[in-house]
Amino acid sequence: MSFKTYIESNKERFLSELFELIKIPSVSAVTEHNNDTRNAAKFLFDQFQSLGMDNCEICETKGHPIVYAEKIIDKNLPTVLVYGHYDVQPVDPIELWDTEPFNPTIKKTDIHPEGAIFARGSCDDKGQMFMHLKAIEVLNNNGGLTCNVKFMIEGEEEIGSDNLEAFVKENKEKLKCDIIIVSDTGMINKTTPSITVGLRGLAYLEVELTGPNRDLHSGHYGGSVANPINSLAKMISSLHNENHKVTIPGFYDDVINYSDEQREKDSLIPFDLNEFKDSLKIKDILGEKNYSTVERRSIRPCLDVNGIWGGYTEEGSKTVIPSKAYAKISMRLVSNQDWKKISRLFTEHMQNITPKGMSIKINEHHGGQPYLTSTDSKAYSAASKAYMSVFNKEPFAVKDGGSIPIIAQFEKELGVKTILMGFGLDSDAIHSPNEHFGLSNFYNGIETISNFYKFYS
Ligand code: BES
Ligand code: MN
Ligand code: MN
Repeated sequence: MSFKTYIESNKERFLSELFELIKIPSVSAVTEHNNDTRNAAKFLFDQFQSLGMDNCEICETKGHPIVYAEKIIDKNLPTVLVYGHYDVQPVDPIELWDTEPFNPTIKKTDIHPEGAIFARGSCDDKGQMFMHLKAIEVLNNNGGLTCNVKFMIEGEEEIGSDNLEAFVKENKEKLKCDIIIVSDTGMINKTTPSITVGLRGLAYLEVELTGPNRDLHSGHYGGSVANPINSLAKMISSLHNENHKVTIPGFYDDVINYSDEQREKDSLIPFDLNEFKDSLKIKDILGEKNYSTVERRSIRPCLDVNGIWGGYTEEGSKTVIPSKAYAKISMRLVSNQDWKKISRLFTEHMQNITPKGMSIKINEHHGGQPYLTSTDSKAYSAASKAYMSVFNKEPFAVKDGGSIPIIAQFEKELGVKTILMGFGLDSDAIHSPNEHFGLSNFYNGIETISNFYKFYS
C-alpha cells in the first residue's frame, strides 16, 4: 500500500489518538500540572510500546521525565534520532480562547478550509511530534523500517530544557546517531514547504531597579527624587538607537555577516509584507535599518521587553513614587553570538547606565545558543526529496526566528546535526490563545516524514 493510502485509511484514528494526548494539560511551567506532564509521558510510553519499539523508558530527571524508545534493526544501518517535546505553554489569557484549550476542536479557517485542530499544543509541539510516531506506524505497516530509530521526547522544552542538557551529557552512547530530526518549527505557507537551517539563540534576564527605600507620597516627594519606573523606562529606551540597533557595547561583535549572494538568495523566500501587517493589524513595521523584515526575524539579533511592572497597577489611582521597578528582557541571538557573553554584556551595560543614587539587580534566566547548519548533507537531500514528493515543490532553506536551545547542545555534545522539518504556520498562533494546527499539515507531515526514511536509508 502507498504511504498516502495507509494514512488516508487510518486518518480518523490518528486524529483521535492525537486528541487523547492533547487533552492532557501538560503545562511544564505550572507545578499543579506535574501529574499531567507525567501522564503525557506515560501516554507516549504506551504509544511506543504499541509501535513495537524496544527499550521504552520513562527517564526520571530532576524535573519532568524524558520518554525514550528505540528500534535497532541492524547496527550497520544509519540511525535517526527523533526529538520533540510533549510539554506545552500555559494557556493564559484563558478568556481569549474561543474553545477550551485542552478540548481539541476542529474548525475551518480561511487558511485551513479543510479544518484545523484548535487546542494548546496542537502545533507546538504535540501535533508535530506525534506525526513522527505515526510515521513509524506507516513504515511498520508498509515494508518495515529501513534504518534504526531512536526517540527522545522531553517535557521541559518550554521552560528551557535544563534537565535534558544533563541527560544528553550523561547518555551519549544511548543517544548515538547519525542524524537528528525534529518537527518543531514552521513552513512558509500551506503549499510551500521549507526546511529550517537556522534558529536564533536566547538570553533572558530580569532587572530590578531600586530607588528610595520605600514607596513615597508622590506629592510630598515628587520632583525631588528619581522615580525608578521613570528611570527604568529611560534606560530601556536607550537600548535602541535611531536605526533600531541595540546599543549595548559589543552586542554585534560576533554576529555573522551574510554575503550579498546569500542575502539575495534568501530574498527569494516568499514573503508578503502587506499580508504580514494585515495579519497583525499593524499599519507599519519597525526594525533594524537596512534589513528586510524576513532578515530582521531570522539572521539579525534583537532585544525586547517581555514584561514591565512596578508601582500601583490596581483599580483607581494611588499617588505614589514606587521604591522599585522591574522588567523582563530577552535578546534573540544569531550565530556566532554566545548567550553567556551577551548576558554579561547586558548586565555590565545596565549597571553602567544606572542613574546615580539607584541600585540595580539583574538575574539571568535560561538561555540558549543559536544554531546554523548547511543544506549540503545526505539528510538534508533526503528531507528535500521527501517534501518534493508530497508538496511537488522543492523546500526553501530558511532561518527561523524562534529558539530550540537543545539543538545547538546536541551538536556540541553528540557531534550530530539536526534537520528541522517543520509543518506549522505563522498563523497557527503558537503560545497564543486559539493555537491551532491544520489537518492537512498534520497528514502531509506524516507522509513527508515517512518518505524521509525512504530517501535517507
Ligand atoms: N517550537 C518553538 C520554537 C520555534 C517556533 C522555532 C517557531 C521556530 C519557529 C519552541 O517550543 C519554543 O517556543 N521555544 C522557546 C524557547 C524556550 C527556551 C522557551 C522560544 O523560542 O521562545
Ligand atoms: Mn516547540
Ligand atoms: Mn514553544
